[in-house]
Amino acid sequence: MRPKDLKTKIFLDGGDPGETREIIRLMGFLDGQTTNPTLISKNPEARKKLENGEKFSKEEILDFYRNVVKEISGLIPQGSISIEVYAVSSTKADEMLKQGREMFSWIPNGHIKFPSAREGLKAAEKAVKDGMRINMTLCFTQQQAAAVYAATRGAKRGDVFVSPFIGRLDDREENGMDLIAHILKMYQRGDGHVEVLTASVRNIDHLLYAFKLGSDIITAPFKVLREWVERGLTVPGNEYVYNPRGLKPIPYENVDITRNWEEFDIYHDLTVKGMEKFSSDWDSLIRKT
Ligand code: E4P
Repeated sequence: MRPKDLKTKIFLDGGDPGETREIIRLMGFLDGQTTNPTLISKNPEARKKLENGEKFSKEEILDFYRNVVKEISGLIPQGSISIEVYAVSSTKADEMLKQGREMFSWIPNGHIKFPSAREGLKAAEKAVKDGMRINMTLCFTQQQAAAVYAATRGAKRGDVFVSPFIGRLDDREENGMDLIAHILKMYQRGDGHVEVLTASVRNIDHLLYAFKLGSDIITAPFKVLREWVERGLTVPGNEYVYNPRGLKPIPYENVDITRNWEEFDIYHDLTVKGMEKFSSDWDSLIRKT
């Protein structure tokens, strides 16, 4: 059962509905799920197909993604399921939007993931005007989060998530959890229409500290959520202190979120690398014809 003192919504980060079923059984609740091309490429059915020397056609892989998402949606009908568009650095906003519209029609409770890059933000600006729910992925800086806020001004709370990727910052010795604290602080001066979704979670301390910071949502892999279950679904009190284990602090930036989104410094190399990795994992599932 959901702990009474838990304010943060809990999402599963994964592409296997079997895990969704199991984590609901273990936790007794689940508020949503995030998927991405890499996670879909790790789905056991997809793996099996590849191990048998088979691949998908472009149409088959989209059908497969849709079926996975539909199955998850049926398991968490009251929750949110994030579905990611295919984008490389040269993908234009209109192409992302086209894919997003199609994916949004798959289930009644989807959020469409666009990258926190210039074209992704252009797509986001139009998408929210069209009434689409979105999750801005691959966010690594306050400036990117400020751009998400500004590009989606006017959207209602619940329709826009921003996903700062903390584990990938940790991987390069920067304290990713600082970014969560900073974005939450920066957004305090706003109208609250963007929810902060802590993503790229690697361990239980990321989870516990995200609770303490007041992250609106956290998405965590199955093994992290299972460990939380084993620890009795505890929510830490004020005595909890996060240990950054020697990671370099990320300084707070005074960013004015009332500016136009185009004025922010949106580029981050990890966003570009992340798009490359997602698209190459997706491509690895598709046969060349
Ligand atoms: C979820 O929305 C993200 O795509 C996911 O958390 C990324 O995690 P990773 O950095 O472990 O790939």
